[in-house]
Amino acid sequence: MNDKPIGVMDSGIGGLSIWKELVKELPDESTVYFADNKNCPYGPKSLEEIHQLAENVVKFLISQNVKLILVACNTITVSVIDRLRKKFNIPFVGVEPATKVAVENTRTGKIGILATKGTFRGNLFNETKEKFGGNTNIHLQIGDGLVEMVETNSVNTKDSQKLVQNYIDFFLQNNVDQVALGCTHYPFLKESLIKLSENKINFIDPAEAVVKQLRRILENENLLSDSNDIKHQIFSSGEITDLKNLIPQIDSYSVQLVKNYNH
Ligand code: DGL
Repeated sequence: MNDKPIGVMDSGIGGLSIWKELVKELPDESTVYFADNKNCPYGPKSLEEIHQLAENVVKFLISQNVKLILVACNTITVSVIDRLRKKFNIPFVGVEPATKVAVENTRTGKIGILATKGTFRGNLFNETKEKFGGNTNIHLQIGDGLVEMVETNSVNTKDSQKLVQNYIDFFLQNNVDQVALGCTHYPFLKESLIKLSENKINFIDPAEAVVKQLRRILENENLLSDSNDIKHQIFSSGEITDLKNLIPQIDSYSVQLVKNYNH
């Protein structure tokens, strides 16, 4: 047993789409979340920049005495998780687009992946795509602007809806019936995605699978907590918009929010 918190990191608040599943499924675990929203989005940045930023966040989380780090960001995972694993002596769990699930589910033989530029460039993403893609046609769409939309809580504006519609039209025109949401910010757009696609597309959020994997690792490494003293902290390097809007039940987890934390 190990009552230390789990560290969770993302370029911003997107990783909360996985954190939300974590606190629901592993209620005896404490967490320390770091949203690097001062530097968000990571997607358009160079590999070296992403590496440097991610290392700084990892160092911060380790200084908070975490027992494991959940990289709740596809862009960081597929770009640099291997390098982080080599450098830091702590277990890491990452997230990548659910290409395999989309390939298994498709009836049209055409799937879509919506992700950041950084994710499509990542080695790990391309290896997974080669491994599981088979005969499926895979249509890639960079979700430019979507991360910012979630960060600034502007999903429901006319311009935002128009942008989301453009991306959906690309998938519909290609007869795609499954879309892997390859960025942890995107599940917060799921309602709009479903509505604007008129239910013709199944959008795959990897949060459940990631938390199952996290549980397996905690079990295998004997790191599960059985504490009654649960604490959740969210640190951010920039401004955070209304979290209640993203996670209506957030108050029930008594979260301590430390805004504009300079790490
Ligand atoms: N949530 C991050 C991801 O999963 C967003 C990356 C970004 O900041 O562009 O890829």
